Amino acid sequence: MNEQIKNKFREIFGCEPQMFRAPGRVNLIGEHTDYNCGFVLPAAVDKMIIFAVKPNNVNKFRFYANDLGESFETSVDNIAKSDTAWANYLLGVVAQFVADGHQVPAFDCVFGGNVPLGAGMSSSAAIEVGMAFAINEMFGLGISRLKMTKFAQMAEHEYAGVNCGIMDQFASMHGKAGHVVRLDCRSLDFEYFPLDMTNYRLVLVNTGVKHELASSEYNKRRAECEAGVKILQKYYSGVSSLRDATMAMLDAHSNEFGDVVYRRCSYIVEENDRLIDGCKALADNDFAAFGQFMYGSHEGLSRKYEVSCPELDKLVAIARTVLGVLGSRMMGGGFGGCTISLVEKLKVADFECAIKAGYKTPDGSEPDIYEVVIGDGAGRIDS
Ligand code: GLA
Repeated sequence: MNEQIKNKFREIFGCEPQMFRAPGRVNLIGEHTDYNCGFVLPAAVDKMIIFAVKPNNVNKFRFYANDLGESFETSVDNIAKSDTAWANYLLGVVAQFVADGHQVPAFDCVFGGNVPLGAGMSSSAAIEVGMAFAINEMFGLGISRLKMTKFAQMAEHEYAGVNCGIMDQFASMHGKAGHVVRLDCRSLDFEYFPLDMTNYRLVLVNTGVKHELASSEYNKRRAECEAGVKILQKYYSGVSSLRDATMAMLDAHSNEFGDVVYRRCSYIVEENDRLIDGCKALADNDFAAFGQFMYGSHEGLSRKYEVSCPELDKLVAIARTVLGVLGSRMMGGGFGGCTISLVEKLKVADFECAIKAGYKTPDGSEPDIYEVVIGDGAGRIDS
């Protein structure tokens, strides 16, 4: 893949590029908690976007999306949202550097990779993070990973229109092979948690449903959570986000919440607790207990937070019937994309058989199944 991207760059621009990569991510537990200042437990994976970049002297940003076979260019003096959706992820990142007072000289970029699109593995975050990392290195700007993570997140807000939390960009930037990242989304303190996968595998199954509803419903969930916080703040001065809320607080004022906002908020409070308990289970190497928290997370996402869909629910229901599957849940924003399942290594083949026998994607084909390995975050690719 690296060679393919590099060769394309040589072919189009006729010179040798610098090479960078940024991975997609999985999240073991802690879904929709990031923008509620809670905890998340993501990891970078071995599926990634590769970047070939080099400064040019034609005063333009020239981009080529290898997987689409499409190009885009714009003058360096005209950094603005364009009509080309994919280019906006890159332009959005450039705009963040500029807004922060940095000069971003003209450059060429070819990018592409194997993070499946719309599968909930955060291909967009990988593109944003990879672009930020490449710009920083190419022009020696010396910006920290944390700051670049925030640039990448803001690019998603301002140029893609999704008010996402920080989890995806953080994991793509800070991931570490063999470890999950336990991130406190309020303080942004994080801890690498070793995950001994000797006997287990993380298996993703793609529903084949593209999460088209995701951005509008995503922003709606954020607003519902904020509405809940507003109510609690009338009674509890210490509550600045749902991170600070407890079920007792919600129950004491449930009549004010209305059914929908109550369910949204209670899911978030419970999911945060599940993550903390889940980390304890992992620290004890109790994968069976961790798996139960994953199932609990899916139940909450499906019934209370209502970001699942029949296809995701079906995949989880099948997972439950297979001996050796310890846990399974929808992953990411929802409304399609993948499930993530924790499976005993020796039972992966059984799991795949059961999925293929019991599930077809909306176009009638077998679902894509990916066994993912936890890898490192964004970096330079040495030649
Ligand atoms: C998307 C967002 C993340 C996070 C997840 C849900 O992936 O980009 O910030 O909110 O959904 O956990």
